[in-house]
Amino acid sequence: MEPETREPTVYLNGDYLPASRAGISVFDQGFLLGDGVFDVVSAWQGNIFKLQQHVARFFDSLQAAHLQTRLTPEQWSEAIVETARRNQLADASIRFIVTRGVPEQMVADPRVHTPTEVIWAAPYIFLGDEQQRKSGIRLMVSQLRGFAPDTLDPRYKCLSRMHFQLAKVEACAAGYDDLIWLNNDGFVAEGPASNLFMVRNGVLYTPASDILHGITRQTFLELAERAGVPVRIQQFTVYDLCTADEVFTCSTAGGALPVREISGRTLRQPAPGPITRELDQLYWNSRVDGEHATAIGL
Ligand SMILES: Cc1ncc(COP(=O)(O)O)c(C=O)c1O
Repeated sequence: MEPETREPTVYLNGDYLPASRAGISVFDQGFLLGDGVFDVVSAWQGNIFKLQQHVARFFDSLQAAHLQTRLTPEQWSEAIVETARRNQLADASIRFIVTRGVPEQMVADPRVHTPTEVIWAAPYIFLGDEQQRKSGIRLMVSQLRGFAPDTLDPRYKCLSRMHFQLAKVEACAAGYDDLIWLNNDGFVAEGPASNLFMVRNGVLYTPASDILHGITRQTFLELAERAGVPVRIQQFTVYDLCTADEVFTCSTAGGALPVREISGRTLRQPAPGPITRELDQLYWNSRVDGEHATAIGL
């Protein structure tokens, strides 16, 4: 059977099952409360990028959320590769999730739980379509602020994403392609699925705090160093963004996505700018060259 028509295989609590049989309970805390953490890695041409770094971030989320798992980081890595392999996907987005599972009593001590563990793989997901990748997206600054570190630290990669959905509803209704929000001090933070960079006078800037520590953001920082582009990790505002030479978002879902407009202000230079283009090219070269790669073995 062709890969496109075959039913996907899902990892669930130690078993590899056809998706139609990979069901979880309606009493699962992940479903009832959004109580769980996850991560997403991607594969390109048969190689998963920075798998160890993603699994390490996942284990930080688990630790901070007081969530248990039956598997070691190495076993998670093996199961992630195996899920991609069984789905025969050379270009894939692979999501792995731990929830607090089904409690023995409805009002339970959240520390005591049997986790639900899931891995599924989909064909590679790009956040932007071809046209948006070529000529940039329209980005809205949301009226919603990001979570403060003393409520839900943005470094948790957690399932509770109602907030993000509300911001997306707002952006879609206003006709924008994507959005970013500010932190509670009014500085630029990030988007619902991406981090943010801007270029001013040849210098690359990215927010310092109140963000998920994106693996792609870290990769672009490393590539900027390699390319000799000076980097500043610091707070900045919407004013800085609107007057920047280049702005782009970045994520595991496609690398850099150039921005051409921010809440009604068209940037002065056409997107993508030269530094965005150069860094994105280096990113994809690095992936095609098999840097930081774990082979799926297809
Ligand atoms: C809130 C948020 N910020 C940033 C990112 C980008 O992170 P990464 O580069 O690890 O995909 C994501 C990814 O989903 C995210 O959810």
